[in-house]
Amino acid sequence: MRFSVASGDGWSQGTDAIILPIAEKAKNDRLDKALGGALSALARRGVFEGKAGQVHALRIPSRGGRRGPEVAVLAGLGKAGEATQETVRRALGSAGRRARSEGARSVAVSLDGAVGGSLGAEEAARAAAEGLALGLYRMERFKGAKSREKLAKERMERAVLCGGRGISRSAMSRGMRLGQILAEGTAVARDLVNTPSNEKRPPDLAAEVRRIARKAGLRCTVLDGRQLARLKMGALLAVARGSSAPARVFVLEYRPGRGSSRPIAFVGKGVTFDTGGISIKPSSGLELMTTDMSGAAAVVGAMVAVARLRPRVPVVGVGALAENMLGADATRPGDIVRAMSGTTVEIHNTDAEGRLVLADALHYTKTRFKPQCMIDLATLTGACVVALGEKLTGLYATHDEMRERMMRLGEETGDRLWHMPLYPEFGDMMKGKLADLCNISGGRYGGANTAAAFLQHFAEGTPWAHLDIAGPAHTSKDEPYRPAGGTGVGVRLLAELARTWTSLPKQKGKAFGT
Ligand code: BES
Ligand code: MN
Ligand code: ZN
Repeated sequence: MRFSVASGDGWSQGTDAIILPIAEKAKNDRLDKALGGALSALARRGVFEGKAGQVHALRIPSRGGRRGPEVAVLAGLGKAGEATQETVRRALGSAGRRARSEGARSVAVSLDGAVGGSLGAEEAARAAAEGLALGLYRMERFKGAKSREKLAKERMERAVLCGGRGISRSAMSRGMRLGQILAEGTAVARDLVNTPSNEKRPPDLAAEVRRIARKAGLRCTVLDGRQLARLKMGALLAVARGSSAPARVFVLEYRPGRGSSRPIAFVGKGVTFDTGGISIKPSSGLELMTTDMSGAAAVVGAMVAVARLRPRVPVVGVGALAENMLGADATRPGDIVRAMSGTTVEIHNTDAEGRLVLADALHYTKTRFKPQCMIDLATLTGACVVALGEKLTGLYATHDEMRERMMRLGEETGDRLWHMPLYPEFGDMMKGKLADLCNISGGRYGGANTAAAFLQHFAEGTPWAHLDIAGPAHTSKDEPYRPAGGTGVGVRLLAELARTWTSLPKQKGKAFGT
């Protein structure tokens, strides 16, 4: 979809549809008149009042041969003056899809109704572009020829963000560009997540990441089985043993033109399919385990966005890829492996594999790049979904300022986080009998916390945050700007963290909740 900005109210851009974000009880006399009184009539009938989440499409009668939009999509923003970027993103996500289903291939968006309160032109344009692009996302690759022909006819090709008096075009332009970049990075992650596991086994996925990196202008290194063995990544390799496809690690690097501070690092769990291994999962819902590489996918998407945003700080993105299968050579419950750090681990449940692949990825990233901080993302535990539900990411952090920045960016981007505890008790629960650590806790409760405590061991010494995205990585129902499937959660959060990066103060004493 091509984006542009224009001055004016959006009625004369030659588009098929116009999207009108409208707040509750806002004064809209001119617009009401332009719509032949439809706005006040709809409000009277309780059909459309501008409430957040409301969307209503109207056919516009052609006006004496003048070429104007055929459809107006009204998108509710809730109470006037209270709209946030998230409100606008949601409104535009739903409205864009509605315009497409009404047959529109081009839309104008009138931002006049969205700017105000805490939302400036730049924020409104950013959220609008993001919402539109994210909401219109879909994966067409796996449809047959006939369906694809049909989908091609129903494709949104052009969007014009419009603002009247008092809304600066350059502010809209800046916001539009940011929103577009963040949405495109998210789409990269969604495409990877929505690719079925038979087409993204670790070597295939690594090759795809290499192609994406080349296009984005990122440096990419892929570590193969031999190199992983030489690095002694025994934990990662233990997970891959049951599969006929070998493990891989990808490393993406962004370097700014100038300056040479230490990088910030993103690390993703990339289990391309999680059967549970010998501790096999029940078959109901197993097809969802194709999304168990959502952490690694988010790292790739964020790095693509970073390459275009060009922040001042260097950024590295690491993904640990393995397929957790059963096989004659698979890791057994009770096996003991040696991680790259030298720590030995008893594997009592082969389904607790995410922490194993991340143990080596975190240690590798820490020692190889000496980063200012590390953030890992993983569809790590069902327990986190039980604790926080399907929409929230669990945030664990050993650094107060990192946690605070991430919480704030979570609110702003809509990749919402909730802070979870890393008290030493959880670490104690992960001690092994024969080996240093065990990969499960033995206890029934607090599974997201004990998993995080296991990871903490391997991040020791570096400011670190862990995002358990098991809930929000995937949605089975369409949400306003998250169509069913992989959501790309974390991409916008990480890209924004890099874009707005300033060096961290030293953590004094223990971080809150550790
Ligand atoms: N990939 C799963 C976690 C998961 C569950 C993600 C549901 C998305 C939805 C992870 O590898 C796993 O199997 N975790 C186990 C850990 C347990 C064996 C300690 C779990 O959560 O049950
Ligand atoms: Mn598992
Ligand atoms: Zn898993």
